[in-house]
Amino acid sequence: MPSHLLSIADLGPQGIGELLRLADSFTEVSARAIPKVPALRGKTVATMFFESSTRTRLSFETAARRLSADVVTFAPATSSISKGESLRDTVETIDAMGVQAMVVRHSSAGVPQRITAWTGASVVNAGDGWHEHPTQALLDCYTLREAFARADRDPSRSLDGLHVVIVGDVKHSRVARSDSLAFTALGAEVTIVAPPTLMPPSLEGWPVSATHDLDAAIKSADVVYVLRIQAERMREALVPTMREYTSCWGITSERARLLRKGAVVLHPGPMNRGVEICAEVADSASSLITRQVRHGISVRMAVLFSLLSGAEGVAVATAGGEG
Ligand code: CP
Repeated sequence: MPSHLLSIADLGPQGIGELLRLADSFTEVSARAIPKVPALRGKTVATMFFESSTRTRLSFETAARRLSADVVTFAPATSSISKGESLRDTVETIDAMGVQAMVVRHSSAGVPQRITAWTGASVVNAGDGWHEHPTQALLDCYTLREAFARADRDPSRSLDGLHVVIVGDVKHSRVARSDSLAFTALGAEVTIVAPPTLMPPSLEGWPVSATHDLDAAIKSADVVYVLRIQAERMREALVPTMREYTSCWGITSERARLLRKGAVVLHPGPMNRGVEICAEVADSASSLITRQVRHGISVRMAVLFSLLSGAEGVAVATAGGEG
């Protein structure tokens, strides 16, 4: 494990596989009556979310507490940022308080990377602009590995042979980039589907095929990964109307009937129900959306433990709790 987690590309198939295997141990811890181990006692994790979040921030904070780390929550709106303090001074101030990890979300790509120059703490990218969201990709891999009963395989090949269709606002999506890298690293074939205006201008570096034909793509999919329409990142009208978007690119009840038996549907959340996914599909047996959220805690425990515990093994990670 590198000293920071900024991109899925930092891990490679072996690194992703090791984190998934470690997350299995923390899933076992989370099932205990008291889901807590002393693995990171004495360490402090700061969550620094400059952009809004429900899942990722709460999941990291829960993960840190289950490992017995202390948690400090930095809230930009009520901080001295509102008095004009710079990002660098903010980071150096939090660093001086003695934290071992900074979990950072920011609307600008590259901010977590920049922060590594201003702190001795491990920095975890919790989503930066349109760039990457590596822990989302890890929890998505973990969810698919479980859903397709691949947990007993070599973890670095655990998605071998699966066809994943990622559909929606790919252009503005950090999740699409991280997931494409992670899914293909573990052996899946990935097709991205979007209207022409919501495709990235270049697919260089994306290990995927691309199409605008959703109905054709989903017929051969094992997994349909639905992206949120990200109105807050659109600077111009890129779809004629939401009704037209839903009709051509949404996972509606009618379109879901094209899916083959056993296919599953994922969404990173938050969902725009009735726009990119209908409620009937989101709440159906084929939807893994709440499982994604649950697995986020185990995966983030694995990330924090790997970054902060040095060379300690799994036995140390899960020992000492009450269960
Ligand atoms: N999936 C995701 O990043 O959700 P939040 O924005 O709620 O953290």
